[in-house]
Amino acid sequence: MASPKRLLIVYHTQTGNTQRLLEAVERGARDPAISHLDVVTKSALLATPEDVLASQGILLGTPENFGYMSGAMKYFFDHVYYPCLEHTQGLPYGLFIRAGNDGRGALLSVERIVAGLRWKLVCEPVIAAGELQPWHFEACEALGTTLAAGLEAGVF
Ligand SMILES: Cc1cc2nc3c(=O)[nH]c(=O)nc-3n(C[C@H](O)[C@H](O)[C@H](O)COP(=O)(O)O)c2cc1C
Repeated sequence: MASPKRLLIVYHTQTGNTQRLLEAVERGARDPAISHLDVVTKSALLATPEDVLASQGILLGTPENFGYMSGAMKYFFDHVYYPCLEHTQGLPYGLFIRAGNDGRGALLSVERIVAGLRWKLVCEPVIAAGELQPWHFEACEALGTTLAAGLEAGVF
């Protein structure tokens, strides 16, 4: 059997809310029905271009800070952009955002950079704004499952 594909999850959290969403995303991505896929989670401060190049799909999780993605997620993009630019076009990606009350600035900021990379959005982004609600976790879990199942099945 061919070696499993890899789904990379890159995230940043400062006060733990994006971490809680991440755990739901991971739960979905590690659905026992999806057995032939490696799911690798990395902090945005530690993820490398090699991590991205070794992956067939990517999920990004960031808080909104000052109407933008977190500084750590921006650092990740600064770090991987040029090493990945020529090699990851079409990479399927998904996005989850934690925001105090908005999230649109973070969404736009990620979309602009990812448009440059020509990654392919394959699932509706999840924006968890305000007090965290059960549906936020359900949507994140579904996001993880969708990316993972789609990658394993080769539908993206
Ligand atoms: C410095 C700072 C700036 C923030 N700016 C925004 C913002 O522009 N829009 C928003 O909706 N929430 C904003 N927030 C709220 C955070 O998105 C929220 O606290 C979130 O839960 C942080 O995620 P974390 O717990 O994973 O660190 C800001 C929080 C901090 C600390």
